[in-house]
Amino acid sequence: MKVVIVGGTSGIGLATARRLAENGANVVIAGRDKDRLAAALAELGPEVTGQTVDARDEKDLARLFSEVGPVDHVVVTVTGPSGTTPFRELGLDHLQAHVSGKLLPHIATIQSALPHLAQGGSITLVSAASAGGAMPTTAALAAVNAGVEAVVPVLAVELAPVRVNAVSPGVIDTDWWSFLPDAARAEAFAGIAASTPVGRVGTADDIAKAIEFLIDNTFTTGIVVRVDGGARLGSPQ
Ligand SMILES: NC(=O)c1ccc[n+]([C@@H]2O[C@H](COP(=O)([O-])OP(=O)(O)OC[C@H]3O[C@@H](n4cnc5c(N)ncnc54)[C@H](OP(=O)(O)O)[C@@H]3O)[C@@H](O)[C@H]2O)c1
Repeated sequence: MKVVIVGGTSGIGLATARRLAENGANVVIAGRDKDRLAAALAELGPEVTGQTVDARDEKDLARLFSEVGPVDHVVVTVTGPSGTTPFRELGLDHLQAHVSGKLLPHIATIQSALPHLAQGGSITLVSAASAGGAMPTTAALAAVNAGVEAVVPVLAVELAPVRVNAVSPGVIDTDWWSFLPDAARAEAFAGIAASTPVGRVGTADDIAKAIEFLIDNTFTTGIVVRVDGGARLGSPQ
């Protein structure tokens, strides 16, 4: 089983690569930064291979998938800009950066992978709890992640028998949060953990487990699995 993880050099994608490789998959990871790629490959060991790719660039994606050859499953964990912005200060250039940084790479990766994807294969995307979360200052994140979720049922039908699913993470401790200094990040995570039913923020492997499930379960398509520690339900008493 060959799996390509675009965005697999860090965080959720890297944890997914680690989990799938440990369970015997032939894993290929891809991201833009060559040093980050090299560090990820060194950590994952010789069974995992990788390439640089910029998923905002269709030609670069086409080159990646033609070099990788036939593939069984594709996972997209590309992230756009991090941080949040009050809506009144949300410039269109910043909104555009969210669209071109996350929504377009997700869709472009699917299109580029399709000619190489096995009929019984799958595509797994990663959205975010901001889609439908009604959290002030997250309008750009919400719009883009709702866009990712919206294509899931459409493509599950249009591309069948290829299966198409997504995971929607809550707050996960990864480099996405590196825009906050360490102390501010620890304080933010403590506050989020206290207001989350399971009492903690998530790990990258919490999401990797859900991605692995969606790859493995051939009776599952067109769904978004929410892995957020119950945060959407509100604070515990
Ligand atoms: N962490 C959270 O709290 C959280 C919550 C909800 C949803 N999510 C979503 O989960 C997904 C993974 O996020 P993460 O937390 O694992 O972030 P991360 O640790 O920053 O990893 C993001 C990965 O995407 C790659 N990437 C970014 N832009 C790319 C591009 N144009 N082409 C190819 N690769 C690209 C990065 O490598 P390069 O920079 O080297 O390209 C990196 O490998 C994202 O879609 C994010 O929105 C995260």
